Amino acid sequence: MTTKLPIAILISGRGSNMEALLNACDAPDYPAKVVTVLSNNPDAAGLDIARARNIPAHAIDHRPFGRDRESHERAMDKALRHSGARIICLAGYMRVLTPFFVKAWSGRMLNIHPSLLPKYPGLHTHQRALDAGDKMHGATVHLVTSGVDEGPVIAQTRIDIRPEDTAETLSKRLLTKEHALYQDALRQFITDQASAS
Ligand code: GRF
Repeated sequence: MTTKLPIAILISGRGSNMEALLNACDAPDYPAKVVTVLSNNPDAAGLDIARARNIPAHAIDHRPFGRDRESHERAMDKALRHSGARIICLAGYMRVLTPFFVKAWSGRMLNIHPSLLPKYPGLHTHQRALDAGDKMHGATVHLVTSGVDEGPVIAQTRIDIRPEDTAETLSKRLLTKEHALYQDALRQFITDQASAS
């Protein structure tokens, strides 16, 4: 029987990467289980997907905190610790994190980003790859550090850019690859950590 490490997933929107991780965690031999899904956005569609699967899923709305980002993240941190999560997977979590939160989860927080980092940190990655005339595009799972989309790379996946591609076709084709990448990268990360300890 595989020991399953408790993980949390943070989302802001549709949650397709979250859903792919939930699917992976359903396999008996996958080394993680999702103990909570949290969102800063009460309307995130992914919350309903998680709830339909009986995964505890909560929103901690950032708006009442105004500019006090750290207080919002202290509330998130409290909920995460209460859940027992040992690793956080950011999956379309659209807020830049404060130094407090990054430090609290240092070495234990992963993100998926739709570009071949270090190329194209930030937004509009598909259009930027097209505008640059790139032949290849891809996605990266990396550890989260204080610089946005800057942490050490854990794994990447690549796709060819086709002459007829638009940002939309590219993002759609890449998303399927992201779903496979994230579960493979998380498995690898947990396995490597277990063998290092
Ligand atoms: C994905 O493209 C992911 O790489 C990026 O945000 C998007 C989230 O999509 N960080 P979803 O909510 O997982 O469907």
